[in-house]
Amino acid sequence: MIGRLNHVAIVVRDLDASTALYRDVLGAQVSQRMALPAHGVSVVFVELPNSKVELLEPLGADSPIAKFLESNPNGGMHHICYEVDDILAARDRLKANGARVLGDGTPKIGAHNKPVLFLHPKDFNGTLIELEQA
Ligand code: CO
Repeated sequence: MIGRLNHVAIVVRDLDASTALYRDVLGAQVSQRMALPAHGVSVVFVELPNSKVELLEPLGADSPIAKFLESNPNGGMHHICYEVDDILAARDRLKANGARVLGDGTPKIGAHNKPVLFLHPKDFNGTLIELEQA
């Protein structure tokens, strides 16, 4: 059911400093920063030959990643995103197998303008999983 690894997301304290780290020290291609107020994050995409890394910085007072940064003051890996062909079919299969889909189970439009869902980390080895309909 799951397909390509779409991205790994890392929460950072300082997006500009992290952009410079990936661009200048690791020699990666990094996009311009984008503010996504609907998601409470600012983001850049690190473009790798076979996938992407997203660097996320909290945006606004009630950013969903602010608490993560409180418990992980240096930042850290936040979630991993797998592609699926049909997100509703994927959701139904997961629910039928007892996995918890976060929120009300209705896909939201993610950073790439495609429908996404998140799965409870306790059901997946402590890892927050995002599914994106590719
Ligand atoms: Co993501």
